This record gives sequence, C-alpha cells and structure tokens, in this order.
Amino acid sequence: MNVLITGNSSGLGLGLTKRLLAQDAIVWGMSRSGCPIHDDDGLRDRKVDLGNLNAIEEAMDRLMSDCLRLDLLVLNAGILGRIQEMHTTDVHDLEHLYRVNVWANKMILDWFIERRIPVEQVIAISSGAGHNLSHGWGGYAMSKSSVNDLIALYAHEMPDTHLTALAPGLVDTGMQDYLCEDVDADEFPSVQKLKDARGTDAMPSPDESAEQILGLLDTLKKGDSGQFVDVRTMND
Ligand SMILES: NC(=O)c1ccc[n+]([C@@H]2O[C@H](COP(=O)([O-])OP(=O)(O)OC[C@H]3O[C@@H](n4cnc5c(N)ncnc54)[C@H](OP(=O)(O)O)[C@@H]3O)[C@@H](O)[C@H]2O)c1
Repeated sequence: MNVLITGNSSGLGLGLTKRLLAQDAIVWGMSRSGCPIHDDDGLRDRKVDLGNLNAIEEAMDRLMSDCLRLDLLVLNAGILGRIQEMHTTDVHDLEHLYRVNVWANKMILDWFIERRIPVEQVIAISSGAGHNLSHGWGGYAMSKSSVNDLIALYAHEMPDTHLTALAPGLVDTGMQDYLCEDVDADEFPSVQKLKDARGTDAMPSPDESAEQILGLLDTLKKGDSGQFVDVRTMND
C-alpha cells in the first residue's frame, strides 16, 4: 500500500504512520518537525512548513519523486489556533490557519492532478467543530467547514478518486492538551465535554483512533465521494 500522510510527526498522523508501517505500507510523510520514526525502510519523510504555500510544490517534487500511484492520501496536518472570540482574533492568524488547514490541502491535491498520478482514496481530516460552530472555535471551525467544502468540490474534479472529509471524533493528542488544560470552560462551555471525555473511551489514543480510521476505509468507499462523515455516526 502506498500512502502519503501530512502532519505525521505527532498525534493522529503519527498513529496512522505507525499502523501502516506495521502493515508493510510505504508511507510518505510531511511535517515541520519530522516523523520521529527513524528505523523503518518503508518511511520517506520530509520536513516542510505547509503554512508556506510557496514551498509545497518543491517539497512534493522532492518527496514524491518515486511515487507512481497512491492508494491513500491522508490530509491530516492541522492547527487549532487559540479558542477565542472572532472579533478579537487577528485576521492574519486566521489567514495562516487557513493556509495550513485548507490551502495546503488544495495544493497537494493539485500536485497529483497536474502530474496525473492516480490516487485511489483521499481522507481529509475534518472535525465536528466545523459543524458545531461553538463559541470561541472561530478560525478552526471555519477552516474545517471549508475543508468539507473543498473535498465536496474536488470530488467533481477527481472522478477516479474517492474523497471523504472525515471527522475522527475526540483523539487524545497535543491539541487536547491545550483544550483540556488551558481553556476556561466557564468562558467557553463547549470545552467541558472534552475535559470530561479525557481519560475515558470517548477520547481514544492516537493509535486507537488510527486503527479505527484504517478499519473504515473500505466502508467509506461504498458511500458517495465528496461527503463529510463523522466516525462517531458510523459506529451507531
Ligand atoms: N485531537 C482531536 O481531538 C481532533 C479532533 C478532530 C479533528 N482533529 C484533527 O486531526 C488532525 C491531527 O491533529 P492531532 O490532534 O493529531 O494534533 P497534533 O498532534 O497537534 O498533530 C498535528 C500535526 O500537524 C502537523 N502540522 C501542524 N502545522 C503544520 C505545518 N505548518 N506544516 C506541516 N505540518 C504541520 C504537526 O506537525 P509539526 O508540528 O511537526 O509541523 C503534527 O504532525 C488535525 O487536522 C486536527 O484538526 C483532531
């Protein structure tokens, strides 16, 4: 299996990388700090800041030069930004958040389309936050909503690829450190649910979440391409 995962230095992306390497997949990865796995011949990794859109094409050219086809592209890299009200959020911070969470994904999809490199399945990691639009989740929620739209739009342009915008549910990663430890639930009540979920089955580890997502790939392909799917509704 040939797989490209963005944001594989930590959290869910690292969990997916570990699971796929254990299944003898070839995994290409991109992140700023680099994947911490150094002893696996199946891993090709490149340090790149996906917030620098000018760097992406060259990074893809260098990283993916030996790739003739992909079975799976996981557009996972993402940043949360701060939980704060929209009217106090600097528009330049929003711009940066959109570059990483939305436009980098567009550029990576374009890279494959322009080079006519077949991609069987795309999973863009979205979030329930894009639907909930809760108080304080401003830029992140908007960017994930835009990821859902981006995937729906690219489904028209990639008829031979199956695309899904997938909300993974709560995953116990670095993002949750900030949400559960630093955000005041009195000011932003939606984070109380996360604090309550931490340490329970409602917030699995990145490895457990990765296993769940990889187990859903075939089922997802049976649905329409371009859809938003929340893993929590698939388990109902
Ligand atoms: N954790 C949750 O409960 C949850 C829920 C819903 C959705 N998600 C989504 O799941 C995805 C993975 O997040 P996570 O929870 O695993 O958090 P994480 O541990 O913070 O992982 C984020 C990954 O994205 C990479 N990344 C961030 N900015 C980047 C940049 N400018 N250039 C390249 N790579 C960058 C990070 O690598 P570097 O820092 O090394 O660059 C890291 O590998 C995100 O899209 C997130 O929105 C998470």
